[in-house]
Amino acid sequence: MIVTSWNQLHKDILNCTACPLHQGIRHKVAGQGDPNATVMIVGEGPGAQEDLKGIAFIGAAGELLTKMLAAIHIDRKDVYISNVIKCRPPNNRTPTMQECNQCLPFLRQQFALVRPQIMLLMGSTALKALLSPELTITKSRGKWVERKGIWMLPTYHPAALLRDPAKKIEAWHDMQLLESKLKELDSLI
Ligand code: URA
Repeated sequence: MIVTSWNQLHKDILNCTACPLHQGIRHKVAGQGDPNATVMIVGEGPGAQEDLKGIAFIGAAGELLTKMLAAIHIDRKDVYISNVIKCRPPNNRTPTMQECNQCLPFLRQQFALVRPQIMLLMGSTALKALLSPELTITKSRGKWVERKGIWMLPTYHPAALLRDPAKKIEAWHDMQLLESKLKELDSLI
């Protein structure tokens, strides 16, 4: 893979018409945050608020994500936040595997530019697109997977926590795993 520049990547995302999802959206949502972040967070795709503003995770799920990060002393501006797909699917439906695969090269470029040490995979779409379509979030969450020196932690999507607050206990456990891993990596330097 040839690594492009942030400028070129954002232009490529803006101009992408590779799948029909770009039809009828207001904004592409590339992602944002610290381009040198240690932690990269990957969600599913833009919702209504994100589509309106062109910024990832700013709706209700985004607010919860900000709080979850703050609970482990991370300011959201210090991570890089993105999604598997950059266009909001109609009525927020789950993107198909084909749509995810079509869009994944953009996420790979983001990954190559940020070069994070840790990836937090939020929800089933991020888990399946980045690790394996065979995996389920209920079985995979809270278990670190190391791939080529990158630590990946699947966890529930914050929207799932809003729908089912009982899951917050497990999500809190996962955030603590993330905090411990950051300390561990820091102590290796
Ligand atoms: N849900 C996501 O997966 N991503 C966003 O950016 C917002 C909501």
